[in-house]
Amino acid sequence: MIFRWWSSDTVAVVTGANRGIGFEIAHQLASHGLTVVLTSRETGVGEEAVKVMQEGGLNVAFHQLDIVDHASIEAFSDWIKETYGGLDILINNAGVSFNVGTENSMENAETVIQTNYVGTKNMTKAMIPLMRTSHYGARIVSVTSRLGRLHGKKNRITNVSLRQQLEDVDSLTEEVIDNVMKIFLEQVKDGTWESGGWPQVFTDYSVSKVAVNAYTRLMARILEDRPEGHKIYINCYCPGWVKTAMTGWAGHISPEDAADTAVWLALLPDQFVSVGVKKRSVDALVSRCERLEVVGVWRVRVRLKKYCGKVIIRDMVHLELIKDMIFDMRVWRSQIRVEG
Ligand SMILES: NC(=O)c1ccc[n+]([C@@H]2O[C@H](COP(=O)([O-])OP(=O)(O)OC[C@H]3O[C@@H](n4cnc5c(N)ncnc54)[C@H](OP(=O)(O)O)[C@@H]3O)[C@@H](O)[C@H]2O)c1
Repeated sequence: MIFRWWSSDTVAVVTGANRGIGFEIAHQLASHGLTVVLTSRETGVGEEAVKVMQEGGLNVAFHQLDIVDHASIEAFSDWIKETYGGLDILINNAGVSFNVGTENSMENAETVIQTNYVGTKNMTKAMIPLMRTSHYGARIVSVTSRLGRLHGKKNRITNVSLRQQLEDVDSLTEEVIDNVMKIFLEQVKDGTWESGGWPQVFTDYSVSKVAVNAYTRLMARILEDRPEGHKIYINCYCPGWVKTAMTGWAGHISPEDAADTAVWLALLPDQFVSVGVKKRSVDALVSRCERLEVVGVWRVRVRLKKYCGKVIIRDMVHLELIKDMIFDMRVWRSQIRVEG
């Protein structure tokens, strides 16, 4: 049985939670007994969403929050401090994509980078000082996409120099990431982006998620040295291709399944949670569970099917194999659910 470190006093904030994956993350966290703050940029739809959960007996509050509007973030920060004395969990879920199907329009590139990367950064920076101290550590989980992988076979930045800058976590800085985004947006503006070596599919969205991933790695390094009681664990994960408005409801994963990993990462016991993933923490995680279920992300499923022929594995021999695979692929790219 996994240790339940949270209570109804644990406060989780979910961005862009009026619909889609964010709504489900808020719903599942509230169902686990936490106090959830469901936020959305439009007050009406956010209040409606909260009402649905409250009618189901869940402890969910609403506050307006637009992650690209500094005044909105400031008002939210003041409110959360005043109302709860801060927060324990931040789920950076809000995001946009304007490409559907095979489209690859760059018309909204600025908005996509601003929302998905800068908005996520805005919220992370604003919330860190408000994160409540606890023995178990506060948590930040960002919803990213496998389209933003640095080493995806099909859809990666082919400019080796830019890739190396984003990859080397020791020399990575916010300025490095911002500069890569600046180069991308300049090329979009002057019409040269197609020869710039950017990901070929959903280019603006993929670039924005490359930045979210790099920012998560950077923050993981920065936050790693915080003293006991002040720990903040940060991770990001890909929910897979999900049936939401963003995909025109064309995905093959339900929002419920897509939300599951965010909730899992947010609620991991402190001895399992890690900033980024380390072999050691995977070892600890796997050795403590009787059943390890890997769900979701296509690549993981395909590899599991290839090796094991099934998705749920109970056999310890297979657990060894999966342990290596998880380490290989990094936890933020996979969806792993542990049931002890
Ligand atoms: N669906 C997928 O297949 C998939 C795959 C990988 C990753 N993701 C990621 O999962 C997250 C959730 O996406 P989804 O599929 O659930 O899409 P969705 O149904 O379109 O939901 C996106 C949410 O983000 C909100 N949002 C957008 N801009 C915002 C802003 N400036 N401030 C606050 N909220 C804002 C939207 O609010 P409005 O209702 O006001 O527009 C909406 O609530 C995103 O980060 C997305 O990139 C999705």
